[in-house]
Amino acid sequence: MCGIVGYAGTSSANADHGALDVLIEGLRRLEYRGYDSAGVAVVADGAIHSRKKAGKLVNLENEIAQAPLPESVTGIGHTRWATHGGPSDGNAHPHLADGGKLAMIHNGIIENFAGIKAELLADGVEFLSETDTEVAAALLGKMYSNGADGDLTKAMQLAVQRLEGAFTLLAVHQDHPGVVVAARRNSPLVLGLGDGENFLGSDVSGFIDFTRRAVELGQDQIVTITPESHSITDFDGNPAEGKEFTVDWDAASAEKGGFPSFMEKEIFDQPAAVADTLLGRSDAEGRLTLDELRIDAEDLTKINKIVVLACGTSAYAGQVAKYAIESWCRIPVEVELSHEFRYREPIVDKKTLIVSISQSGETMDTLMAVRYAKEQGAKTMSICNTNGSTIPRESDAVLYTHAGPEIAVASTKAFLAQITATYLLGLYLAQLRGNLFSGQIKDILADLGKIPAKIQDILDRSGEIKELARSMADASSVLFLGRHVGYPVAMEGALKLKEIAYIHAEGFAAGELKHGPIALIDDGQPVFVVVPSPRGRDSLHSKVVSNIQEVRARGAKTLVIAEDGDNAVKDFSEFVFYVPETPTLLMPLLATVPLQIFACELATAKGFDVDQPRNLAKSVTVE
Ligand code: G6P
Repeated sequence: MCGIVGYAGTSSANADHGALDVLIEGLRRLEYRGYDSAGVAVVADGAIHSRKKAGKLVNLENEIAQAPLPESVTGIGHTRWATHGGPSDGNAHPHLADGGKLAMIHNGIIENFAGIKAELLADGVEFLSETDTEVAAALLGKMYSNGADGDLTKAMQLAVQRLEGAFTLLAVHQDHPGVVVAARRNSPLVLGLGDGENFLGSDVSGFIDFTRRAVELGQDQIVTITPESHSITDFDGNPAEGKEFTVDWDAASAEKGGFPSFMEKEIFDQPAAVADTLLGRSDAEGRLTLDELRIDAEDLTKINKIVVLACGTSAYAGQVAKYAIESWCRIPVEVELSHEFRYREPIVDKKTLIVSISQSGETMDTLMAVRYAKEQGAKTMSICNTNGSTIPRESDAVLYTHAGPEIAVASTKAFLAQITATYLLGLYLAQLRGNLFSGQIKDILADLGKIPAKIQDILDRSGEIKELARSMADASSVLFLGRHVGYPVAMEGALKLKEIAYIHAEGFAAGELKHGPIALIDDGQPVFVVVPSPRGRDSLHSKVVSNIQEVRARGAKTLVIAEDGDNAVKDFSEFVFYVPETPTLLMPLLATVPLQIFACELATAKGFDVDQPRNLAKSVTVE
């Protein structure tokens, strides 16, 4: 939800790049966070120079090509996901204040902006946009002249003390070349340390082309950067510390690597995402060592309930986790959308383990739910893909997924890595609590170890599913059915199609079909069915085969994902894609992949930008 970049450098130290190069490169990498508009402001010749444009970054680049900006080594840049005010040029950031002397960009929502705006209007301030950000900029301008005596950092302290809600704010002032001041509350901000230059970004990808040295910033902190220094304080001006870390991936990992889209590249990254997430977390005897967990083993043996909190794709990873953890550990697992959990009266206590799942580690709904659970005394653990992000930092424990940077808005490799991490957690709990014998854990780990090669096998046959997708480019609705772990896979398959192909798609529990959704089936209605292994437990397989027949009898076009060697489905399917054999509980790591490929190819065939679908943002930092 909005990407922000800040830069303070010196022309002598960094001859190969000026502020504009850094800002545009950073915005390009942060564009996944929102692309309703983009804008920059630089300080040069004792003035602020700004350009901003509705639409994607390319529109801003064209604007700058027509109206070039002066050379500068200080600036801020923004890519927007609209909240207050539509996606127009006028509402684009930066917003200027104090007669154009200062510029501000913002990520978040300032909840009390209306009252402050009324006060400023009464002072005679004029507003050009409908945004809450312009109000914050005007407030900063007022504080700069009254109270802060021309000290930009002090003015920021005074301004943020008046603000409520979520915000990361960055400001530059014409009288302070070489200075960028930032403040954060409930929205992300990371500091990047260079040599004779310093950076600010919504996340490290905002400056990964220039440095891998980064500093995590805490809640309610203000940071001022110059080319040679950075200083961190709390909102009252008391000195504060950040935590330095080195980014463990480089700019090349965030490139398309020859693929037509980030999404396709990330689908093909999945063997590595799963392998890397498993790496180093168990020994040759099959004993899990999750040292990084930071929760006392004794506390973990005492928990009597797990509540998984997540949104979107991450919530479907949580649903898969429920089947596995309950089966292996015999602990009840509830899975709840973070925003629903937060605003009811959930029953959690110190024997509850909250497991939040978030690729970005910044999803506001999940962050608020985790904080709330913590207040109720629960232990909190984060499964996260982004080092140094807010949710793991505020949780008692963390289990990082190692999927690498995920750029496409629709999540793919992070999903598989999240599922893998929840399996590791489940097996670890089973080991601690003695629910499984060590030999059983070793066997499951061995099966998990074979998954990357099996995903590769699916990817090598992606042509089959791509052809199907292209032939269905005109479909207006696609249904997905699954049972057991196939149910969350069905919902994830439907979500992918909604997100990037803008097609009506629904995922249903196959058993629920007869209770309503079957009424949707009409002649030619495409229905994907995720079929469990015929070698699996109970009569799961035969029940799903019956469901295929039920929809087919009503005219559905049945598209089946089944396990190698499953001949029972052939007679009832228009199309079958076979995935390699694997134990039922691990099947989502394979069955999801063809559905991702299907959505990506179908959206591409329709001519859509699969990496940046309309109306969405990758990191949703507002509630
Ligand atoms: C947004 C994204 C989804 C993602 C969800 C949760 O809605 O568009 O792809 O699944 O947020 O994000 P998280 O970073 O918490 O996993």
